[in-house]
Amino acid sequence: MIYLLGGSGYVGHAYQALLSRKGIAFRNVRRAELDYTNGAVLRDALRRDRPEFLINAAGYTGKPNVDACELHRHECLFGNAVLPGIVADACADAGVPWGHVSSGCIYTGARSDGSGFTEQDIPNFTFRTNNCSFYSGSKGLGEEVLAGKPNVYVWRLRIPFNEVDSPRNYLSKLMRYTTLLEATNSISHLDEFVAATFACWEKRVPYGTYNVTNPGAVTTHEVVDLIQQSGVSDKKFVFFKDEADFMRTAAKTPRSNCVMDSSKLASVGITMTPVRDAIRTSLKNWQKA
Ligand SMILES: NC(=O)c1ccc[n+]([C@@H]2O[C@H](COP(=O)([O-])OP(=O)(O)OC[C@H]3O[C@@H](n4cnc5c(N)ncnc54)[C@H](OP(=O)(O)O)[C@@H]3O)[C@@H](O)[C@H]2O)c1
Repeated sequence: MIYLLGGSGYVGHAYQALLSRKGIAFRNVRRAELDYTNGAVLRDALRRDRPEFLINAAGYTGKPNVDACELHRHECLFGNAVLPGIVADACADAGVPWGHVSSGCIYTGARSDGSGFTEQDIPNFTFRTNNCSFYSGSKGLGEEVLAGKPNVYVWRLRIPFNEVDSPRNYLSKLMRYTTLLEATNSISHLDEFVAATFACWEKRVPYGTYNVTNPGAVTTHEVVDLIQQSGVSDKKFVFFKDEADFMRTAAKTPRSNCVMDSSKLASVGITMTPVRDAIRTSLKNWQKA
């Protein structure tokens, strides 16, 4: 049996769908029913139920976007930096291996040669290194809390998308925003992300950190072109002049835009669809809300 924390959320729902589809028994643990943010409560539940693995898809993302994290710093720090340590200790005490959903948003830009950041690169969009958002800083601290802990996977998700129209889906966001920011990003197909991360456990690949993004990177203009070619939207897309224009008129905090290298994941035999193909397929199978 698998323990799933944060199963009620956007990413957690995708884990629920995956585990149901695979016929794997799981317990969708909600704070309201079992307060897993209390270490002793979680440890005792793990000792009682003895799950073979735990997935932590819980965290604080800020709604409607990361700007909300600038206002709700306590919740953000607790959900993203403190909670992973609580889960780590409870899992260690109960002898349960686990996986943590982190984020690639702890990086900005690309390596100096234009290639993607690997798991070896020190995050450069954190409280330690740059003028980051509070959200990115909190996710960076969460990874620091888990550094060197045994029996844990740290899976970095980036800007999730799939074929289901939703306010949380990157493709929907691009179609709904009035003005877009041009940027280059590696991004993650949500259902491929949950399948790839669970495969880490199923295949018993070495514990540690994995960038779980579809291979490659895309610019906002390229994604807009794919949306237009697909016929899903005939909207006339408008862009901010530059990042300064975006910051002045639409945002409270800087955004992470970055290129990630997912070859470590591929090296353990877990492959994801190249990013443009994954976007094209999502648009071809688009399910309008
Ligand atoms: N969505 C993205 O764009 C994205 C990108 C990269 C990484 N991530 C990471 O993926 C994880 C899940 O994100 P999500 O988009 O699925 O978030 P979400 O829809 O807001 O769901 C998160 C779930 O976490 C639980 N939770 C536990 N502590 C919390 C707290 N302090 N504040 C708010 N919720 C808390 C809640 O479940 P219960 O109350 O039912 O237990 C909630 O339903 C987070 O760690 C996030 O940083 C998300």
